[in-house]
Amino acid sequence: MSALLAAAGIVAGYGKKEIVRGVDLAVAEGEVLLLLGHNGAGKTTLMRALFGLLPPRAGRVGFAGRDITGRNPADNVADGLAFIPQGHGIFPALSVRDNLELGAFALKKRHTLGERLDTVFALFPVLAERRGQIGGTLSGGQQQMLAIAMALMHAPRLVILDEPSIGLAPNLVDKVMQAVREVNRRFGTTILMVEQNLRYSLPIADRVVVLKTGLKIYDGPPEPLHDRVALMKLF
Ligand SMILES: Nc1ncnc2c1ncn2[C@@H]1O[C@H](COP(=O)(O)OP(=O)(O)OP(=O)(O)O)[C@@H](O)[C@H]1O
Ligand SMILES: [Mg+2]
Repeated sequence: MSALLAAAGIVAGYGKKEIVRGVDLAVAEGEVLLLLGHNGAGKTTLMRALFGLLPPRAGRVGFAGRDITGRNPADNVADGLAFIPQGHGIFPALSVRDNLELGAFALKKRHTLGERLDTVFALFPVLAERRGQIGGTLSGGQQQMLAIAMALMHAPRLVILDEPSIGLAPNLVDKVMQAVREVNRRFGTTILMVEQNLRYSLPIADRVVVLKTGLKIYDGPPEPLHDRVALMKLF
């Protein structure tokens, strides 16, 4: 498998603080890559640097063979990247359908809007049933589904998810993880996901990267991390 996203030597931070201190990260086309690390390890900062929300201080980011280092998020979305921020970022005052239409802003062919809606409604029947409901009145799990569905509206090649399980009850975490896996299987969408909930995220991961204080300390298969002792050593 070739790398769809390839980052090398990424350094990023805020003010005098250097948070991400030289990280290489390759996401293979078609895989689910899980990014782990303790609170404050720099996971969100790294995702923001990859997506163009925070220009990296050093290093290069490549996507589909092109250099996209520091390119603005709107151009990245138009080129097939999607980013779902921590805390999901839906529009709470708008209906499910209006949220989905906003998610389609980068759709190149507007006449395909109806097809995209059918596609995401087929994947998330609960959103189809509730298409007229105001986003902010959905349950936490449903809001996270909506955030994922919004990202899918422009048929991205790579979706970056930052802690989609935050604030969700365990049964909903399981549902959201299964939805992520389904997106990956059904559409071949490549997934880069930050998660803290290992119980439900490890089983859907093809590969795992662990960050510790801004450095990569593990890059490999998920299986060894099922062992609690091995996991404790990394954290
Ligand atoms: N906008 C900002 N300005 C200054 N410092 C920041 C900013 N955003 C994050 N930080 C700091 O950078 C460090 C890493 O934050 P980051 O959000 O990348 O961690 P994280 O691994 O995503 O943690 P969490 O698991 O809690 O989401 C933290 O010490 C945080 O306080
Ligand atoms: Mg974070």
